[in-house]
Amino acid sequence: MKVIVHADLDAIGSAIADSIQQLLSEKPNANLGVATGSSPLAVYRELARRHRDSGLSFAQAQAFMLDEYVGLAEDHPERYFNVIDRDFASHLDFAEGTIHGPNGLAEDVELEAREYDESITVAGGVDLQILGVGSNGHIAFNEPGSELDSRTGTIALTDQTRSDNARFFDDDVSAVPKLALTQGLGTIMEARKLVLIALGEGKADAVHALIEGQVTPEWPVSILQKHPDVTVYLDTSAAGKLTDPALYLAN
Ligand code: GLP
Repeated sequence: MKVIVHADLDAIGSAIADSIQQLLSEKPNANLGVATGSSPLAVYRELARRHRDSGLSFAQAQAFMLDEYVGLAEDHPERYFNVIDRDFASHLDFAEGTIHGPNGLAEDVELEAREYDESITVAGGVDLQILGVGSNGHIAFNEPGSELDSRTGTIALTDQTRSDNARFFDDDVSAVPKLALTQGLGTIMEARKLVLIALGEGKADAVHALIEGQVTPEWPVSILQKHPDVTVYLDTSAAGKLTDPALYLAN
C-alpha cells in the first residue's frame, strides 16, 4: 500500500486526476469506479477542468457507482445517481447510458444487487476505483461487521453513518434512509487499482485501522491491506493518528 500525505487538497485532486488521465490514455474505454461523498470532489473538479481546458475525454469510458440508498425518490437530490450526475458525470462527456449504479428503487433489491454485481464482471471489471471512507471504517456502505469477501447486497446503515450523512439531509437524521445497496468488499477488491481519499480528523481512526491495524471486519477498510495496488491519499488531519505521519509526507 502506498500512502501519501498532502497538506493541499488540490494536490490530491491533481495526483488522482493524473492516474485517471494516464489510464484513459492507455485504455480509452476504461471502467472507472466512482464514489459519492465530499472526499472525491477535488478529483472530480480537476477532471472537469481537464475536460474543459485540455479535452480529456470520457467518451468511450464507463463509470460504475459503489452504492445507493434504498427507497429515495427518483428526483431526490441525495439519491446517489443524482449526486454522481451533479458532481461528476454532467461535467464530462460520457456517452448516454454509461453511468451505472445499483437501483435503490428496484422492486426486488436483492435481485438488483446480484445483477449489478454481475454487470460489473460482464463489463470487464473496474480498472480504477475511487474510494472514500466512513468515520467508522466503512467503504461504500460496508458497515463494521460486514464479511470481508461480501458481494453486492443490501445493508442496514448504522446510527453513526446515518448521523454522519445527516448533513446532506438538512441535518435531519430521520430523513436518512435506513437501508442501502452496496458493492460488497469482495466486489470492490476485484477492481484492478484502488485509490482512497481520507480528509479531516474524523477519519483519523479509520486511517489508523487501514494502515496500522489488523485486517478485521470491525474496520472494513482494513481489507485494502490485501489488495496489490492501493494508494491512500490523506490530509494531515486524517493522518493524525499514525505513528509517524511524517514518513508519508509528499515532497
Ligand atoms: C458515504 C458513502 C461512502 C463515502 C462516505 C464518506 O457513506 N457511502 O462511499 O466514502 O460516505 O463520505 P465523505 O467523503 O463525505 O466523508
